[in-house]
Amino acid sequence: MSRRTALSSPMALLLLFLAAVVSTRAQTEAAAEGAAAAAAAGGEAELVLYNVGYGIELTCDLPNPTKLDVVWKKNDTAVEAWWDVRGRYRLEDGGARLVLPPKTHEDDFGNYTCSVGGASRAWRVQGNPHSKLPANTNVVEGQKLKLQCRVVGKPYPAVTWLYENSTGGNLTDALAAFAPRAELATSDQGVEGGALLVAAAERTDAGRLVCRVNHNATFNGATVLRVKDMYAALWPFLGICAEVLVLCAVILIYERRRAKPELDDSDTDHHDAKKS
Ligand SMILES: *[C@@H]1O[C@H](CO)[C@@H](O)[C@H](O)[C@H]1NC(C)=O
Ligand SMILES: *[C@@H]1O[C@H](CO)[C@@H](O)[C@H](O)[C@H]1NC(C)=O
Ligand SMILES: *[C@@H]1O[C@H](CO)[C@@H](O)[C@H](O)[C@H]1NC(C)=O
Ligand SMILES: *[C@@H]1O[C@H](CO)[C@@H](O)[C@H](O)[C@H]1NC(C)=O
Ligand SMILES: *[C@@H]1O[C@H](CO)[C@@H](O)[C@H](O)[C@H]1NC(C)=O
Repeated sequence: MSRRTALSSPMALLLLFLAAVVSTRAQTEAAAEGAAAAAAAGGEAELVLYNVGYGIELTCDLPNPTKLDVVWKKNDTAVEAWWDVRGRYRLEDGGARLVLPPKTHEDDFGNYTCSVGGASRAWRVQGNPHSKLPANTNVVEGQKLKLQCRVVGKPYPAVTWLYENSTGGNLTDALAAFAPRAELATSDQGVEGGALLVAAAERTDAGRLVCRVNHNATFNGATVLRVKDMYAALWPFLGICAEVLVLCAVILIYERRRAKPELDDSDTDHHDAKKS
């Protein structure tokens, strides 16, 4: 986290500086242009969620009676020049509809615009986020638990960890449920709060954990947590030890039993020999 801020602050300063220069130089022009664009767009960009791996379709419904060229842009760059989109989209309806093929990926999110003449329309396209967790998680009592939430769909949303114990009840905030043993970290994937760490797992921690990234529960990954007995790994070993001990005892006893009659036999033999 600190590394991120350290990296971004010079960038932020540079941007601020540029913004200041640009705004003082061309304030009036920019203001006029901005107002015109906002008026043309008819307000805010529309939010469009797409499922990563499925198609995106945007329809430019601006009036175009004289069949002017429709200009499509992603992040202020013409789609035909955007390296990542180039060759992966098609235009339909005389250019009025932009279609990204079924094989969309995470980095297809961004700001898309279409413009016809002086008018334009804007969309904020974002991945419908979903998360994944392994179906089952095992941890040994007293050991550290570390869960990684795999998130799909950019921009990455905030991650909330929820928990319910094995007797059911309702999902509640996991950080509170495991306090003060729990903390959040950045996941290996780079999602802030995407990793949940719980120190010294207890038997009563067993239950179900959900990593929530979507309001619709069907898109949130869940795992069933089992906490194994601290001595769980020791039992098979102890079992073998016990088996060996019993076997040794049996052999010892057997040998003794066998040894005794032999002695008795020799005794009697001796006795017999004496007698005869
Ligand atoms: C443009 O979109 C890409 C995703 O393809 C994103 O990573 C990037 O931050 C965007 N650029 C700007 C300037 O907003
Ligand atoms: C899209 O535009 C908004 C402002 O309208 C900006 O805050 C955001 O960073 C842009 N996102 C991308 C991915 O370019
Ligand atoms: C679970 O939540 C529902 C409402 O969301 C509430 O009616 C119920 O009492 C809660 N149960 C428990 C055990 O907290
Ligand atoms: C499980 O949680 C419920 C409420 O959420 C609580 O009443 C119950 O005591 C908990 N059970 C255990 C074993 O911690
Ligand atoms: C959640 O998403 C599924 C699949 O897209 C959908 O069928 C369901 O109606 C949604 N539920 C809610 C509460 O939005």
